[in-house]
Amino acid sequence: MRFCTTEHVHELLLAVALVTGVAALPAPAPAQDFPPDVTRGKAVYARHCLSCHGTGGWGDGPDAAALRVPPANFHRFKSFLKSDEELLRTIEHGIVFSPMHSWQGQLTETERQDALAYIRLLVQQGR
Ligand code: HEC
Repeated sequence: MRFCTTEHVHELLLAVALVTGVAALPAPAPAQDFPPDVTRGKAVYARHCLSCHGTGGWGDGPDAAALRVPPANFHRFKSFLKSDEELLRTIEHGIVFSPMHSWQGQLTETERQDALAYIRLLVQQGR
C-alpha cells in the first residue's frame, strides 16, 4: 500500500485549507453571551432559592419565617426596578449581615444568570 500519492497530498492540503478556513471564522461567543435559559433557571431556583424567596418569588419560602432579615420579595418595586447587573452582583457576592450569602463558587455565572431570568419571569407572570 502506498501512502504518499500526489492524490493523498492534495486531499491533505485541501483538508488543511478547510480547517484553517474554519478556524479563521469568528470564535463562538462565550456561554454567558447566550440568552439565559429560564428552564435551567427554574431548576436552580427550586433547588437553591425557593426555600427563602418562595415558589412565586414573594419572599415567603418555608425558611423565611425563621429569618431575622426577610428574604427579598422580587415583586416589590424596590427589588424589580434594580438592574440585572445590580441583582447579579447581589447573587454573586451576597449581602453582609444577611442570610443572603454569596453564591459565587456554588453556582456558575451562567447558573446565576439563569436564576435571575427565572426570577424576572416570575415577576412578569405575577406569580
Ligand atoms: C437563606 C435564605 C436565602 C436563600 C437560600 C436565598 N436568598 Fe436571596 N435573599 C435573602 C434575603 C434575606 C435577602 C434580602 C437581604 C437584605 O435585604 O438584606 C435576599 C436578597 C436577594 C436579592 C436582592 C434583591 C434586591 O432587591 O436587591 C436577590 C437578587 C436574591 N436574593 C436572589 C437569590 C437567588 C438567585 C437565590 C438562589 C440562588 C437566593 N437569593 C437564595 C435570603 C435568601
